[in-house]
Amino acid sequence: MKNIMHIVGTRPNFIKAAPVLSALNSRCVCQILIHTGQHYDINMSDVFFEQLNMPQPDINLGVGSGSHAEQTAEIMIRLEKVLLEKEPDCLVVYGDVNSTMAASIVAVKLGIPVAHVEAGLRSRDRTMPEEINRLITDQIADLLFTPSKDGDDNLIHEGVAREKIHCVGNVMIDTLVKLLPYAETYWSHLQEKFNLHEYVLLTLHRPSNVDEVIILTRIMKALDTIAQSTHVIFPIHPRTKNQLDALNIKASSQIEFIEPLGYLEFLALQNHAKVLITDSGGIQEETTYLGIPCLTLRENTERPITITEGTNVLVGRDPQKLQKEFELILAGREKKGKIPELWDGKASERIADVLIRQ
Ligand code: UD1
Ligand code: UDP
Repeated sequence: MKNIMHIVGTRPNFIKAAPVLSALNSRCVCQILIHTGQHYDINMSDVFFEQLNMPQPDINLGVGSGSHAEQTAEIMIRLEKVLLEKEPDCLVVYGDVNSTMAASIVAVKLGIPVAHVEAGLRSRDRTMPEEINRLITDQIADLLFTPSKDGDDNLIHEGVAREKIHCVGNVMIDTLVKLLPYAETYWSHLQEKFNLHEYVLLTLHRPSNVDEVIILTRIMKALDTIAQSTHVIFPIHPRTKNQLDALNIKASSQIEFIEPLGYLEFLALQNHAKVLITDSGGIQEETTYLGIPCLTLRENTERPITITEGTNVLVGRDPQKLQKEFELILAGREKKGKIPELWDGKASERIADVLIRQ
């Protein structure tokens, strides 16, 4: 393949695409980077291009926020024109966000092969918007790059042809491996700025946790109990910030609310945290690599390897389970894990090798 187009739109997309762009750069291919504009705040988008040393997007479709249908449709309408003009040999899509699915549908219908990075993950929870995006993207993609063997098994079970599937490892870990030493240079400044000793790093943004007033209020109450005894630092996702502002929850809380952080700052805070409490997909993987305990506020995960091999524990939305698991960690009885196979910092090199062979 000579002419490869990449589609990104959200914070985790940038972190996954950066190493693939870099690996292909050292091979003789022409690359075009398209940003859908799904995420647009400086600290949800621009900061990642800068810190991950990514090229600026060739085109930003500027779709912004909206309902699922609005966002998906806008991406499709705007991207179709770009694909017709640029005629790439392949479109590379990342992860499980609306930008991923929308772009895949448009490309496939124009006869442009789609390569899906982070294919095969399944939570088996179809109320989760990302699960729909995963199922559709994987059914129509031509090349499927999985992060671990369970992804291959899921795809084969769904009837995807074996020859389309390549188990390459985890590109998010490629970025982590490369940038951890730089992230560490931020630590002493952050430690001083936030007066950090033993602390919990918290993130929260899944619609199932933050969109319903009753559920969000219950979760925040449980987290506030933890914050009575331990420093909890919470870089708030804009979706969650909007909800918390509407409910006026911040005012009465012990939790330290801060703006979303750049990749390097957030990685430094992860690496020194006592525990992560999160509902993020990527953070379940990063904590497994770093060996930091992770309590996931979800009933299921599309990343089961972080439980079977890593440091992840699902606590659902049960305050008692959260408190119990948190106390085990404080008592030094945290779950020990290991780094999964192929999470070695070289997944993007393996992807680039496959792409240029096509
Ligand atoms: C999206 C992805 C989710 C991913 C997350 C990563 C889908 C369906 N969801 O969720 O899988 O885990 O990104 O962070 O694709 N907003 C801003 N500024 C921004 C971006 C968003 O203020 O730069 C606010 C808007 O009010 C918007 C809301 O956040 O309506 C939600 O944004 P959206 O991109 O629709 O979904 P996320 O929750 O970010
Ligand atoms: N992250 C970040 N700054 C933050 C919070 C998260 O850089 O304030 C990084 C985190 O290290 C991981 C990625 O963003 O690499 C995860 O993105 P997110 O949780 O938004 O999406 P998900 O992985 O759930 O799709």
